[in-house]
Amino acid sequence: MKTAHYTAYGPPSTIAFRDDPVPTPGAGEVLVRVHTAPVTAGDARMRSGRVPRGLGLMVRLALGLTRPRVAPGWAFAGEVAAVEPGAEGFQPGQKVFGLKGFKGGAHREYLTIAATGTILPLPETLDFRTGAAFFFGGLTAAEFLIDRARLQPGERLLVAGATGAVGGAAVQIGRHLGARVSATASPANHALARQLGAEAVSDYRDQPPSGPFDVIVDVMGKLAWPGARPLLAPGGRLVLITADLPQMLGAALRPRRDGRRILTGTNRDDLPSMRRLVDLHLAGAYTPALGPVLPFDQLAQAHSLAESFHKPGNIVVEMAA
Ligand SMILES: NC(=O)c1ccc[n+]([C@@H]2O[C@H](COP(=O)([O-])OP(=O)(O)OC[C@H]3O[C@@H](n4cnc5c(N)ncnc54)[C@H](OP(=O)(O)O)[C@@H]3O)[C@@H](O)[C@H]2O)c1
Repeated sequence: MKTAHYTAYGPPSTIAFRDDPVPTPGAGEVLVRVHTAPVTAGDARMRSGRVPRGLGLMVRLALGLTRPRVAPGWAFAGEVAAVEPGAEGFQPGQKVFGLKGFKGGAHREYLTIAATGTILPLPETLDFRTGAAFFFGGLTAAEFLIDRARLQPGERLLVAGATGAVGGAAVQIGRHLGARVSATASPANHALARQLGAEAVSDYRDQPPSGPFDVIVDVMGKLAWPGARPLLAPGGRLVLITADLPQMLGAALRPRRDGRRILTGTNRDDLPSMRRLVDLHLAGAYTPALGPVLPFDQLAQAHSLAESFHKPGNIVVEMAA
């Protein structure tokens, strides 16, 4: 089978393909024939080692000091090819989707995963492409809006950077929770932002939209506290999805400022969070925006697009039609 590998930290050309034996699932595991996988901002950051200021050393300690020692590919959609004894709940031929997490291993034609791990049946309302695009961004938006910012019906939500993986999910879930959603996006994406559920859309390169807002989701961290503070209502919450180390430390040490709050950090990517996102989807709250779909052998091009930070939704590569 064809597998992708990172040969060094660096540009997309550091991705190489190899022929490897199809893995043998162990007890309690399923073998999945991967049809599609997303190529996310996270995948691109792991490959390049380019992360927000101050986080580089921590990331290299976790991923590998001199090269990424993780395998490419955070998530997958595909079909069950084999089920080992003890792997309850799955049958050969069943459509599934799931996460290999930050250690990766989804950018390949077959993978193994524990049946009790981060794998779920693919709902009939999703195909392999939207299934691959489903979790990255959706999990982040759901956790930050529901658990951390505790967005309430009738509140005013601004999603700054509204049509990528995280922003596109935040607009939809915010709307579902009953918020009045404003968005910023580049002009080419204004129609998409409205389609996802934003009532008012403006260009982030112009003046910021006039507040006040109860919750601001700052996807790229470009507003940050100085830019967001004048737009936040009393009791307002700033969600910094992208934050550098000083911002993270600042938010941890002084989360409350002027009667407002800063929330940041990373989201969980566990089975309960995945199940909740599926429930939100089935309730009509969220369907991922699908970006470009490329063949698997164009993985490097997909990485270039992902690290532009101007893609709609999630980019997907296809291993099998
Ligand atoms: N905290 C966490 O747990 C977590 C989880 C997931 C992702 N992230 C981080 O979140 C960020 C976004 O990830 P993503 O997958 O959503 O990226 P993405 O799909 O590339 O989306 C980026 C979005 O930001 C917008 N944007 C680009 N430049 C901007 C600017 N100067 N001002 C305002 N908006 C701008 C883009 O709009 P246009 O396309 O219209 O230009 C697009 O909507 C990445 O830094 C990623 O590492 C963090």
